[in-house]
Amino acid sequence: MSHPPIDQAPAWQALAGHAETVRGRHLRELFADQRRGLDFSRRAAGLTLDLSKQRWCHETLGLLLDLAREARMPEAIEALLSGQHVNISEDRPALHTALRLPEEASLVVDGNDVVPGVHESLAKMGTMVERLHASQWRGATGRPIHDVVNLGVGGSDLGPLMVTHALADYRPDDVPHIDVHFASTMDGSQLVDYLSRFNPETTLFVISSKSFTTIDTLSNARTAQDWLMTRLVKEGNARVDESMVMRQHFIGVSAKPDKMTKWGIAESSQLEFWEWVGGRYSLWGAIGLPIALVIGMKNFRDLLAGAHAMDRHFAAAPLADNLPVLLALAGIWNANFLGIRAHSILPYDGRLEYFAAYLEQLEMESNGKSATHEGHEVNYSTCPVLWGQLGPNAQHAFYQLLHQGTQPVVCDFIAPLRRYDEVKDDATRAHLKAQHRLTLANCFAQSRLLMLGDDAIDEPGERPGHKRYRGNQPSTTLLLDRLTPATLGALIALYEHKVYVQATIWGINPFDQWGVELGKQIAGETGDMLANHAGHERMDASTRALIEAVWQAEAA
Ligand code: F6P
Repeated sequence: MSHPPIDQAPAWQALAGHAETVRGRHLRELFADQRRGLDFSRRAAGLTLDLSKQRWCHETLGLLLDLAREARMPEAIEALLSGQHVNISEDRPALHTALRLPEEASLVVDGNDVVPGVHESLAKMGTMVERLHASQWRGATGRPIHDVVNLGVGGSDLGPLMVTHALADYRPDDVPHIDVHFASTMDGSQLVDYLSRFNPETTLFVISSKSFTTIDTLSNARTAQDWLMTRLVKEGNARVDESMVMRQHFIGVSAKPDKMTKWGIAESSQLEFWEWVGGRYSLWGAIGLPIALVIGMKNFRDLLAGAHAMDRHFAAAPLADNLPVLLALAGIWNANFLGIRAHSILPYDGRLEYFAAYLEQLEMESNGKSATHEGHEVNYSTCPVLWGQLGPNAQHAFYQLLHQGTQPVVCDFIAPLRRYDEVKDDATRAHLKAQHRLTLANCFAQSRLLMLGDDAIDEPGERPGHKRYRGNQPSTTLLLDRLTPATLGALIALYEHKVYVQATIWGINPFDQWGVELGKQIAGETGDMLANHAGHERMDASTRALIEAVWQAEAA
């Protein structure tokens, strides 16, 4: 796939010229068109996407769609979904969408139908989940497992962490309670807190690592292993031996079964996935084990079905009605033509607490690139800086900057339309529903205020400078009919595909992460210096002093 640089494309040039005329227009002027709200909204898979508060007009969208066509978007979508080697630097497909294909589907990639393997892996995962839920999978002393700790980082942590929080309401009523926890940080702080509170007899660790070489995860796993062996074998029951602990207290999830075996994970306790699943795109399969443990396999399959519904929409909808394409084009317009390089993710639902953190990895690790497929440095911006927090909390934290700071920022407001229908007690339900309405009111008010500035308020007279709101901050509003496994699946898939569409336009590979590798290598060398008390003389003055400070602290 060799393309001329996209900024040479006629549509890019046309957009650059068009931006000159639109840049000076305030959103309040654009909203003189009363049809705008409807014209720039689309629905699919239980989601409504309102892009009317973007600083664009019909002509802009037309030109952006031309740009997508010039980037051969329909062909690129087909290439992704059919398993072509779209991950060019690693010469493999990126087939997270295959993880959510129904059992009767077939997808032949490099001569093999991948779907049967996907469903075998799901079935093996389902058996583990059932055994744990039925208290048949017991610890080495025979007691049922009560706490499961996922040891993983990046894609082997953030997806399961985000989804288990978002869907905690979907915990099946008829299974004994298993608490799922996450430890990712290499410093062991999260893990040590669990070890101080949990009973080793009833604790199981899931070592989640696609590569099974990530030092962060393997360090935590070693500490956990040592804790179990000390408490259960050395100090514990004489009938418990190390192999029982390894078999009953560890599950491994990885694309490297040989490495899991070498580490000591019993084959029956291994869940395998494939190199063609990118780490940050992997929650849909074995890496999703913690999710299935919390919500059960039926709900896990609903999550997959929701994502698959978005995949089908992505494959079939015309570009002008295609949610991921439109969301991506709004981002291109902001980053490349309006110069807006900060993007805030603001869910108005406490269950989506980790959604922004999840998207930070998905978007920035995927599209934080500056070399094209051909290895040329790009002349244009790629992924903006993306961050976020629960919207209602962020209102009391960084919204001040959104309203009156000097940075242009684009925001994604995300909220469910319905909430608390299932609460049984009438009075509590009424209170909670009022809280939900309050939350939606805040969500809608904030995006309106960001758009209109001072014009949002009906107050006559001039306002002093410190009370003035400039407005004209663009935003997207995404409404979920409800937050369910299916709509959450669709929401995540929407952003995954958005990332791919943007990468296609920018001519970059969203499926590798070479930028992370050098950091890992250098950390290893620095670790050797710290441990061996040698070699630091070669370092710069700052690093040398920092290393010496550690030695002094250790000696004190
Ligand atoms: O360091 C970045 C990264 O490679 C991510 O892409 C990945 O999700 C994470 O590390 C964890 O990798 P693994 O699952 O191989 O342990």
